[in-house]
Amino acid sequence: MRSMTLRGLFRRWCSGSSLRGSGGNIPDWIWERSRFVDKLHVRHGHPLCTIRGMIEAEMLAGLTKKGGGVHVETKLDPVVTSRQCFDELLVGQDHPSRSESDTYFLDGTKERVLRTHMTAHDTELLRKGARRFIISGDVYRRDAVDRSHYPIFHQMDGVNVFERANRKHVEDDLKETLSSMARNIFGKDANIRWVPGSFPFTSPSFEMEIFWRGEWLEVLGCGELQEQVLIHGGLVPTETENRGWAFGLGLERLAMVLFDIPDIRLFWSEDERFSSQFQDGVVQPFRPYSKYPPCYKDIAFWVPTRYHENHFFELVRGIAGDLVESVEEIDKFARGDRLSLCYRVVYRSMDRSLTNEEIDSLQDQVRAKSAAELGVTLR
Ligand code: PHE
Repeated sequence: MRSMTLRGLFRRWCSGSSLRGSGGNIPDWIWERSRFVDKLHVRHGHPLCTIRGMIEAEMLAGLTKKGGGVHVETKLDPVVTSRQCFDELLVGQDHPSRSESDTYFLDGTKERVLRTHMTAHDTELLRKGARRFIISGDVYRRDAVDRSHYPIFHQMDGVNVFERANRKHVEDDLKETLSSMARNIFGKDANIRWVPGSFPFTSPSFEMEIFWRGEWLEVLGCGELQEQVLIHGGLVPTETENRGWAFGLGLERLAMVLFDIPDIRLFWSEDERFSSQFQDGVVQPFRPYSKYPPCYKDIAFWVPTRYHENHFFELVRGIAGDLVESVEEIDKFARGDRLSLCYRVVYRSMDRSLTNEEIDSLQDQVRAKSAAELGVTLR
């Protein structure tokens, strides 16, 4: 299981347990990390901190050139209201991100969540009078288990609201500011393209892609803030006044590309062989110290009518911690109205070899807990 180092213990000083009520769905280890003081994106020398600092500096320079008054935040609390995270951003009532299978709720009332994106802070900061801001932090989503998905990751969001500007101007400024940031990070000859995006809080919406090592890589989402979102932010938008843009990007994805980091779990490694490779502010390729062998275990079961794969993924992660590399559905069939699923769980440590006994014990726990908690029937 997760062993706590001394450094780990220090990070947990503010437990904030009183915030959490009953009926929520946040595993303890996720909650504890949400309370850490020195999070990865502000931990000097950590690749996520370096990439955050670089993009922040670029955006700050870009925004300052056109007026200044830029507000930077890196320590906003990840606990926000569903109103901030969804309602004020026009996320529809039936949007999947509102469901318990996708989002961590603090209690049964679903009033408070661990933010699923940094955009959750936009309306509040606008109401407080901020017109240009860059915010970064940890965000939380229940999701797949593989090399690029982890229930905690980090994002940077930015907003720029103009007192006077028509929509064309807002769109031009958005694309110009973000392309120039991307060119400064990926190189001035970087091949950039804009593709249509779709977010409830912006319209039009775009995604920026960069051609990187032979493929188009999605870098960020952005768009013009919807009038209704600006109104929730306390502004009075007209055709030519109080219009603005917003963007959001995932730091892990960019850091994995720029630092050649092959597995998202490495960002959480406390192994010296990982941390000693990086210096604050320097982008350099990661040198894998060793690749330990993977071990595959399959599990098959009949699922009950109310079943969501994210519950199973989280159960495995809760038992195996960072020793699970991926969980993949490998077989599925129906008999009558019953559905059977088979998953392959890949165990592999980033830091050491695992023993057979250790893996068998993890897999036994996965089987027992699945039967007890998910209502599945093991086959
Ligand atoms: N919040 C969006 C996401 O998590 C990104 C985004 C931010 C898109 C702001 C548009 C504007 O994917």
